[in-house]
Amino acid sequence: IVVVLDFGGQYNQLITRRIRDLGVYSELHSHKITVEELKGMNLKGIIFSGGPNSAYAEGAPHCDPAIFDLGVPILGICYGMQLMTQHFGGKVDAADHREYGKANINVQNQSKLFMGLPIEQSVWMSHGDLILAPPSGFVVDASNPSCPVAAMSNEERKFYGVQFHPEVRHSQFGNELLKNFVYEVCQCEGEWSMENFIEIEIEKVKERVGNKNVLCALSGGVDSSVVAVLLHKAIGDQLTCMFIDHGLLRKDEAEGVMKTFSEGFNMKVIKVDAKERFMNKLKGVSDPEEKRKIIGNEFIYVFEEETSQLEDMDFLAQGTLYTDIIESGTDMAQTIKSHHNVGGLPEDMKFELIEPLNALFKDEVRAVGTELGIPDEIVWRQPFPGPGLGIRVLGEITEDKLEIVRESDAILREEIKKAGLDREIWQYFTALPNMRSVGVMGDGRTYDYTVGIRAVTSIDGMTSDWARIPWDVLELISTRIVNEVKHVNRVVYDITSKPPATIEWE
Ligand code: XMP
Repeated sequence: IVVVLDFGGQYNQLITRRIRDLGVYSELHSHKITVEELKGMNLKGIIFSGGPNSAYAEGAPHCDPAIFDLGVPILGICYGMQLMTQHFGGKVDAADHREYGKANINVQNQSKLFMGLPIEQSVWMSHGDLILAPPSGFVVDASNPSCPVAAMSNEERKFYGVQFHPEVRHSQFGNELLKNFVYEVCQCEGEWSMENFIEIEIEKVKERVGNKNVLCALSGGVDSSVVAVLLHKAIGDQLTCMFIDHGLLRKDEAEGVMKTFSEGFNMKVIKVDAKERFMNKLKGVSDPEEKRKIIGNEFIYVFEEETSQLEDMDFLAQGTLYTDIIESGTDMAQTIKSHHNVGGLPEDMKFELIEPLNALFKDEVRAVGTELGIPDEIVWRQPFPGPGLGIRVLGEITEDKLEIVRESDAILREEIKKAGLDREIWQYFTALPNMRSVGVMGDGRTYDYTVGIRAVTSIDGMTSDWARIPWDVLELISTRIVNEVKHVNRVVYDITSKPPATIEWE
């Protein structure tokens, strides 16, 4: 493993990701990690990340100094290099000219890090401080007029530092440099791959579970689906999946989930039909937050009731991802998204947790899913909120309104897929504002519902932009919805970004 120590830089997860893409397993950890903890890992190298602080400032984050005596190669990036410099007595100071963006550097000492790379290369800089003089024992490997120490090394101790960000794509040979670090300096073997991951996890699960039983809450989303199939591979019928249908799913979704897992994968799936229960609880409720709360709580009650009847379950499997852990786990993480999640089960449960995906990023989970033979519709499923269509029928939820959303949404999905836009658009769905308007159909006046189309591009759902769907595709969708979905006479397209709007309408 190559451990990345988190000093608060914005690209930290990206460093981990790049290393993994090079075939070497990597994890991001807090800079407060102790030497003892590190010794417990199969540690091949350490990377100090960048960060917003000044290494010489009071209260700046440091690492356990004993890390430098582990005899393990260290690469310091930006703040990480400055920290190393400070530690070994070099000179770090504020730069006269802060450097952000593309810059050229000249390599003057071809250390192992720069092996096989050109003398002149373009890199991505983002720093306010710089190193005026490297510490003793270090040589300057690269520089440019505004940055006298763009890279440095102490090859005897295998310590390296770069002022620029090799993990960012704009650094022309960044990937090669990281490759040199993990393969030439750390001498990693490059055994990390998805097939490998599956094999290792299957063995781990078998060992941990023994002949006990595991329950998995299946939502039909990619994460829980991948967990279920992975576990089924490992322990077969010792796995029971539970799928709760709260009646707020999209058209044919519940049937699809049952068909895929129960028939396709031959798994034990208990389907809990809780539609009526949810509808009864939601009757007469129109406040969005109240609706969310009711759905979330009811989900937990149903889950607890149902599992209390399954006496012999010892483990609960969940699709927690690496990013979920990172967001709550390291000290430097800045943004935390807290959504009321229907999948968020109570903490005081009797189960032991199994979370086989907690080392993976979303796209790695997708790759594992594909490798496991899970169909594309699930592997590439767009995000779907826990409260489901309950927050897409604005105001009070009725069966008739749910039907309008289900039908119009199915048309939208079909046409987006036909137009080949389904992987480009982060999320696309219809919502039913609580609004009716006048129209004319045939020779008669109508007074019917308006359907809203929401389609957004996004990286992580935190911010988004409205998708520029071609006019003719929108036209087709609108025509089909008005013609095919009863009680709809108008279709509107939401052209607000997030912020100021949110992706969902409630
Ligand atoms: P908003 O509407 O906040 O949505 O811009 C951002 C992303 O989160 C999804 N979302 C939820 N997901 N439980 C979830 O699991 C929820 O309560 C919830 N609310 C919104 C939304 O679909 C979008 O992808």
